Amino acid sequence: MDLSERVIVITGGTKGIGIGIARHVGGLGARVVVTGRKPDGVEAAGAELGDLGIDHLVVVADVADADATAAMVSEAASRWGRIDGLVANAQSFRPVMDLVDVTARDMDLLFDTGPKGTLWAMQAVVPHMRAAGWGRIVTMATSMGLTGAAGYGPYAASNEAIRSLTRTAASEWGRDGITVNCVLPASAAHRLDPAASSERGAAFAAMYDDHPIGRDGDPDADIAPAVAFLLSDASRYVTGQTISVDGGGIMRA
Ligand SMILES: NC(=O)c1ccc[n+]([C@@H]2O[C@H](COP(=O)([O-])OP(=O)(O)OC[C@H]3O[C@@H](n4cnc5c(N)ncnc54)[C@H](OP(=O)(O)O)[C@@H]3O)[C@@H](O)[C@H]2O)c1
Repeated sequence: MDLSERVIVITGGTKGIGIGIARHVGGLGARVVVTGRKPDGVEAAGAELGDLGIDHLVVVADVADADATAAMVSEAASRWGRIDGLVANAQSFRPVMDLVDVTARDMDLLFDTGPKGTLWAMQAVVPHMRAAGWGRIVTMATSMGLTGAAGYGPYAASNEAIRSLTRTAASEWGRDGITVNCVLPASAAHRLDPAASSERGAAFAAMYDDHPIGRDGDPDADIAPAVAFLLSDASRYVTGQTISVDGGGIMRA
């Protein structure tokens, strides 16, 4: 897989799956733009990508802020003269809660940083992709949206909106050479606080034990290669699709 000279924007790329994708596609030759909310995390991601010899730009930008997203994409386009790919990966979270306790603030946060953040990022990159007649957009969502998941109502609902936007974007931009696909990843280890009680870790281990491949996904080795395929020429006849990159977990949900 060769992504040489491709400019790939990864929102929420300072940790977890996002930084795994940044390291992987950077290793395939891409120039990467990574965003996050926290300046420390953004700075650390920049230092790591620099140490790896990856040509990069790091920007503090909240995905809910359409203007900040547009400015970030403009800065990247000014630097390299092109935007080839977007991985709309950032989303903020809320604690697990029963639907009866969900507030407007909970719904707003998930929708502002999920489907709306994804749409603002798409709107910022698409003019560049249209001009080039080539573009790749990868959105991220959760299998919990398909299956339902007690305690995760706002998150699951907002992620189904992301999948819907993915299909509409694919329909609207296919003739422009732009493909738009959604990945449902499973990679939870980085979300577990090693200092926290082992109860949550045990629950995750039991969940993965029930999956066909039987283990957690690794951001770099398991999730990122599938995303790289969707960012490459090789996926040119794939659009509007949702692909579970979860060790087959969706079959056990
Ligand atoms: N991990 C999984 O198993 C799993 C399963 C299904 C779907 N997903 C989806 O995959 C994506 C990545 O998940 P993850 O586990 O890697 O998440 P994570 O470890 O919590 O990392 C989230 C990343 O997004 C950034 N971020 C959060 N809110 C942001 C905002 N409002 N604006 C800009 N950046 C923001 C974070 O940076 P800051 O710390 O600076 O905010 C961080 O870089 C998410 O969309 C998630 O819903 C993950």
